[in-house]
Amino acid sequence: MHLDQLSSIDDLYVVCECAHVTYKEILDAIKAGNCDMESLMDATNAGMGCKKCRSKEYDPADERAIHLDEILALAKAEGLCKD
Ligand code: FES
Repeated sequence: MHLDQLSSIDDLYVVCECAHVTYKEILDAIKAGNCDMESLMDATNAGMGCKKCRSKEYDPADERAIHLDEILALAKAEGLCKD
């Protein structure tokens, strides 16, 4: 996943199927200051079920198109997080 792919994910893509959290909801939570995994999961309820959306480590079959850790890393690289 590269920086230019950040914008290629549809806003309505469901990043977390367990909690039905969309990509836009994840990005909005990051923009609101939830710039680490724990905070992001608390704010959105994403990643609390099967964990496959957290990272590839939990998703060996690559069922999710993008994972929370990748979105966080890309968002930081894009300057969405102040830290
Ligand atoms: S897909 Fe996010 S916890 Fe299951």
